[in-house]
Amino acid sequence: TKSSAISLRVNGETHSLTVDNRTTLLDALREHIDLTGTKKGCDQGQCGACTVLLDGRRANSCLQLAVAAEGRAVTTIEGMADGERLHPVQQAFLDFDGYQCGYCTPGQVCSAVAVIEEHAAGWPSAATADIRPETGPPPLDDNEIRERMSGNLCRCGAYVSIVRAVAEAAA
Ligand code: FES
Repeated sequence: TKSSAISLRVNGETHSLTVDNRTTLLDALREHIDLTGTKKGCDQGQCGACTVLLDGRRANSCLQLAVAAEGRAVTTIEGMADGERLHPVQQAFLDFDGYQCGYCTPGQVCSAVAVIEEHAAGWPSAATADIRPETGPPPLDDNEIRERMSGNLCRCGAYVSIVRAVAEAAA
């Protein structure tokens, strides 16, 4: 099979690596760059554990090829804090116990960061896209958070605390 030499820009740092062309971005992050904060759950786009930001938008890194991420800005959970200071969303997950075992947490946090930014920018959720496009999306209440975070599963069922953490971070 063919391999490619690529450079990936992750959390502001450029990494040069050679990968099999079929390598997912998730495996490149975890196995080639040793950024293991991004988790593998289902490896087929259904659980959200592998969520990262690609040019600021959420993406399931298990569904992206590493070679296709060249030239794009990849942000992982390791890139969220500002030095010793946690990202406000990370802090809210800590303050409001937005996790239980913690395995889904990096994906939840990456997703929540994007959810808050997308909502602030007036983007509708998929479910409300055609309801009232002229007035912008409904407020980021618990239902709206649940809808927008619905791609991130938590097998512990910590959803009540996750929603609370996202609401507090967004407030
Ligand atoms: Fe990518 Fe589950 S590991 S969505």
